[in-house]
Amino acid sequence: MSGSAFPVTTPLPPSPHPPLLVPSILAGDHADLAASLETVHRSGVSWLHLDIMDGHFVPNLTFGPQTIRDLRRRSRLFFDVHLMLDQPADLLDAFLEAGADLVSIHAELDLDHATLLGHIRSAGKQTGLVLNPDTPAEAAFPLLDQVDLVLVMTVQPGFGGQAFREECLDKLARLHRERLDRSLTFRLEVDGGIDAATAPRCHAHGADTFVAGTAFFKNPAELSARIAALGA
Ligand code: DX5
Ligand code: ZN
Repeated sequence: MSGSAFPVTTPLPPSPHPPLLVPSILAGDHADLAASLETVHRSGVSWLHLDIMDGHFVPNLTFGPQTIRDLRRRSRLFFDVHLMLDQPADLLDAFLEAGADLVSIHAELDLDHATLLGHIRSAGKQTGLVLNPDTPAEAAFPLLDQVDLVLVMTVQPGFGGQAFREECLDKLARLHRERLDRSLTFRLEVDGGIDAATAPRCHAHGADTFVAGTAFFKNPAELSARIAALGA
């Protein structure tokens, strides 16, 4: 194991991006998503995270392209769409046409990631690659020049409200080092258990893009201020 190759006691150089809070509507009211969207609009953020679950890749279900389309009609936010699907290729065009601005696919899937990422870019949209907590940073390395964002899951995907997993911090640092070494500018996003206490720790390890569901809807102003302060 080379787990201590990047000692966290040495401060890392900063990310190429200022810190960005990305509320996850998973923690909103699914019988009144328009109201949850308004809460997000009032907070002054520019991105929204949308979790798409199929009941196979993860043991939960959320919503599909129709919901994205209906939210799109009510919002100019940048839609950051996180696909948790066994077969993302089947619905990729539907999500792109519905109004996704960035689509992330999971690294764990046995498919041709390069082709799917190329397809997303050819539609004029941004690309993301997602790593589950047990997937090593190195799984993303061959694809880093094809992505606009790497999403490091800091919980096992499927449900909001879970506890942040500490072991993901080293993975963030590895990806951030690789980004610097290769002069790449992809965003480094974290998702799962992100709050006022865990966001600064992720930031210190190279994360710049912070998905938050439970903590955001609990106190939007507090989390917005905390994440804005990371860039000060
Ligand atoms: C979980 C989703 C997350 C979720 C995070 O599978 O990918 O985006 O909304 O929720 P919290 O912030 O509550 O951990
Ligand atoms: Zn997510």
